[in-house]
Amino acid sequence: MKNAIIGVVGAGAMGTGIAQVAATAGHDVMLYDTHEDAILRSRDKLLRILNRLVEKGRMTDTEAKAIFGRIYFVDTLSAFGPCRMVIEAIVEDLSIKRELFVELEDQVMDSCILATNTSSLSVTGIASACRYSDRVLGTHFFNPPALMKLVEIVPAVQTDPQITEYVTSLITSWGKITVETQDTPGFIVNRIARPFYSEALRILDEGIADVPTIDWAMTDFGGFRMGPFRLMDYIGHDVNYRITEGMYHSYYEEPRYKPSFTQKQLVDAGYFGRKSGKGFYEYGDTSDQPAPIMDKKLAKRIKNRIITMLINEAADAYYLKIADRDAIDLAMTKGVNYPKGLLQWADDIGIKKCVKRMDDLFDFYHETRYRCSPILRTMAASGSRFY
Ligand SMILES: NC(=O)c1ccc[n+]([C@@H]2O[C@H](COP(=O)([O-])OP(=O)(O)OC[C@H]3O[C@@H](n4cnc5c(N)ncnc54)[C@H](O)[C@@H]3O)[C@@H](O)[C@H]2O)c1
Repeated sequence: MKNAIIGVVGAGAMGTGIAQVAATAGHDVMLYDTHEDAILRSRDKLLRILNRLVEKGRMTDTEAKAIFGRIYFVDTLSAFGPCRMVIEAIVEDLSIKRELFVELEDQVMDSCILATNTSSLSVTGIASACRYSDRVLGTHFFNPPALMKLVEIVPAVQTDPQITEYVTSLITSWGKITVETQDTPGFIVNRIARPFYSEALRILDEGIADVPTIDWAMTDFGGFRMGPFRLMDYIGHDVNYRITEGMYHSYYEEPRYKPSFTQKQLVDAGYFGRKSGKGFYEYGDTSDQPAPIMDKKLAKRIKNRIITMLINEAADAYYLKIADRDAIDLAMTKGVNYPKGLLQWADDIGIKKCVKRMDDLFDFYHETRYRCSPILRTMAASGSRFY
């Protein structure tokens, strides 16, 4: 497998990281971008990262040089001729990606696997642009690819199962944890994580608690590394809002994924979060950080509400066969560092209790957003557990 030459299209944040991962695993990598600037930035970035790894003692200078030496910065797609697999990581636009896949098919071998790193587009829709659509699939890396362990493997409707199997073992051999997911909007992680943000925003909008208190509830009581508002600031509200909005429309205006007007206001104001110096919090040397209201009872109420909504979303993804039980729990613990798999968490809380909490929310609000997943209700009735 190490002999396989890997092509990467798009030398931005993700393409550069994926090239580093594949080269570190011993592959020769062809990295292409239409913008010369992007190639130069990618080259500099890779050199900086590899030098830092040497300084930290994570690899020797010889190893770093060998990794860098395996990455070829190319300026034509025809360089992908000998590639076993090409991973696309260009701009998130369906028609541009489809065009690229058509061009790629003219340059690569018939046996070359074509993968897309899309986070929100239909892999099936991309594959349908191809003559040999059975060799196309999604490989969804997380940012930054070199540090994040998880890769979602997304077979399209057309994908040959042998291709899925090969790519899964190839990417596993790169030290990644792979989970297979159905080609549906948000795949596993971006779908199941939605309530972490949206329910926190809803609690804020209702005036139940303020930003630092909700974050405090989720870190100190929920065990999450970062509270939802801190995390949205970190991801960038432009990105986070776009994902939620995309999910909402892709699922035909599903109320569970309804975007928040409060977040839209931040986007409109250009308050994207950390990267713009302001979001829910202020960033900079002198800014004072607001303190939470240390009300433990309130914190537990917030934590229970958000975790119950997350569990309900995970249970529904399982119910609708988006992925299997282990993939769902692995994806959330390895992809977004949740303290526990959500289906495991459902068992630990008790399925009946989860149903009761969802029903209490529904009874109070009478909104379909708070409907309990049928699988939880069936399990509660039969006394079964996920594990
Ligand atoms: N950034 C993330 O957190 C993240 C995480 C997972 C998946 N993704 C997905 O990965 C893909 C890339 O995202 P990114 O953040 O690296 O974007 P980016 O903007 O950092 O990089 C995209 C690169 O693609 C190049 N490009 C654009 N059109 C091209 C074309 N037709 N041919 C060749 N190169 C082209 C651009 O010059 C740019 O260098 C997107 O599909 C995105 O949704 C991003």
